[in-house]
Amino acid sequence: MGLKSFVQKIKGEVNIVDLISSYIELQKSGRNYKALCPFHQEKTPSFYIYENTQSYHCFGCGASGDIFSFVQNHQNIDFIDAVKFIAHKYSLPMPDIENNKDPEFIQYTNDMKKLELFFMNNLSKKSPAWDYLKNKRAIDPDSLKELGVGWSAYEDSKGLLDILDPERLKELGIFNDRANNIFSNRLMFSLHDRDGNVIGFSGRGLDEEQKPKYINSPQTKYFNKSSVLYLYDKAKASIREVDFVIITEGYFDAIRLFINGIKNTVAIMGTSLSKDHMKEISRYTNKFVFALDSDQAGQTAIEKSFQNLDKNINALVLNLSPVKDPDDYVQKFGIESFQNTLLKAISMEEFLLNILRKRFNLEKETGRDSLISNSRAILARAKRMGNISRFDKLISKLSDWTNLDKKLLLESWNADRRNSPGQIPLGQNPQRKQKRTEFKNLDPEEELTVLYLFHPTTRLKIERLFQEYADTVKDSYARFFLNVREQFNPDDAADYLQDYFTTDKIEGFFRQFERYDKVDSFPNIIDDCEKALKKRELKNKMMEIDRLIESSQEIKDKLTLISNRLQLSKEINQLNMNEGRAINERE
Ligand code: CTP
Ligand code: MN
Repeated sequence: MGLKSFVQKIKGEVNIVDLISSYIELQKSGRNYKALCPFHQEKTPSFYIYENTQSYHCFGCGASGDIFSFVQNHQNIDFIDAVKFIAHKYSLPMPDIENNKDPEFIQYTNDMKKLELFFMNNLSKKSPAWDYLKNKRAIDPDSLKELGVGWSAYEDSKGLLDILDPERLKELGIFNDRANNIFSNRLMFSLHDRDGNVIGFSGRGLDEEQKPKYINSPQTKYFNKSSVLYLYDKAKASIREVDFVIITEGYFDAIRLFINGIKNTVAIMGTSLSKDHMKEISRYTNKFVFALDSDQAGQTAIEKSFQNLDKNINALVLNLSPVKDPDDYVQKFGIESFQNTLLKAISMEEFLLNILRKRFNLEKETGRDSLISNSRAILARAKRMGNISRFDKLISKLSDWTNLDKKLLLESWNADRRNSPGQIPLGQNPQRKQKRTEFKNLDPEEELTVLYLFHPTTRLKIERLFQEYADTVKDSYARFFLNVREQFNPDDAADYLQDYFTTDKIEGFFRQFERYDKVDSFPNIIDDCEKALKKRELKNKMMEIDRLIESSQEIKDKLTLISNRLQLSKEINQLNMNEGRAINERE
């Protein structure tokens, strides 16, 4: 049975109500169940479980999904582990999913594993690699056992032939056309995929004369150097646990940190961090600390990686200069000192701005102008991330360096953006002006709150709306607006948001702070939100009436209810019609 059909089978057998109730206490609510949300702090239940659709949704924090996503988030594990977990909990025998993998791949990784063991066994006390590691690199070879480091000797060809035939060795990229081991006389690093399968090798010559410094497995269907993350299979658990990743350039850097207990470390094999790399790591964390070599190559790799950064990634850079790389740093100053420098990592935006500054002569007006126009992509990213303090820091720096007023810089930045939204240097995606979500699928609470936070003139009106629709709006918002004037000044609201909303939500608000720059559009936006709330209110009433109709015995009551229902549906239709018009008018 494949994974897909097994997942379907589980869905057929496990009831979400039963599963969730084994973790949290549920209360019956109409046909459904509700509970205090396990994914955010709350005092009144806004976490609903719908038996008919086998799903859950929290109206406070927006968490939603099915049995698998519940277990994934609740236990902090990935999808496959969630499937295994539920299968185990309900005693459903887990099918052998391995068997459904590409058999050629299984054969490939089996053979590669044999080779890895062979090379590892060769790394004996008698081998020159042992001596090299111990004396030249100050690494205890025994500490490398779990990492699959090995040695490939001159005389290896024969030993290799005891494991696999020459044709196969050629296919696996170990032998060249003349049936010679391409890695002979090299220290061997085995390269693994995320699941720990051996997919390639890289061999380093022991003395600097031996060229090239590294030889890598040839590119194959299963091995692509630029998508490998060295040590990732060992690091991912720790990355999730400590919620950040350290990205280094070379094997020795990653190994040095790893054997010193910093296990959330990977190496990118001398390339830059690709979109695929980022997507992979983002499964576990959005905090990336770049600890690349402090030379020009490392700097270029950072600039390239910057182009690939998704807006959700918080990228920091560690400046190790004048030391060359993390390996050197730890050897010179020790692991504790390295840990301390981690605290001094600066944002990637600031790092790039510092570099940019050195490219221009700021004594001259043209130099200052160039600096300002070239910094746009960097500023744009800080802004797109919604990281206001980061953005502010960058503007302050620019202002210091150019002796220009911050306000002026901000104005020119805004004007620039309006005039040529498409042209942003450094190949960055142009800042896309976010189109306002249309009335029918906007989240009115969120929309109104963003307006409220950043545009004081809208406040009274919005407060009134939340009062009027207190029973209809999501819980966290209702509580926030109930307290906003009584417990704190709306101008200070930003400091109190965390008492009501999740960090994600708050970050969401701040990410949108620049969405509304046309003051004259505020009344329309508020109007649309009000309509959305009205519609929700009517729908709730309708559902209530439906319940009453179902439960009422008297035919007379039933008729009154039905006529009420008709009236309500008329009102909803009316709203829908207006909605269509409003959208047409705007376009
Ligand atoms: N690299 C490569 N091929 C080369 C040189 C480098 O694939 N010819 C990759 C390797 O993954 C290497 C990384 O780029 O680990 C960084 O290169 P470098 O800094 O030269 O090597 P280190 O691993 O740091 O080795 P060392 O500390 O011995 O210099
Ligand atoms: Mn290096």
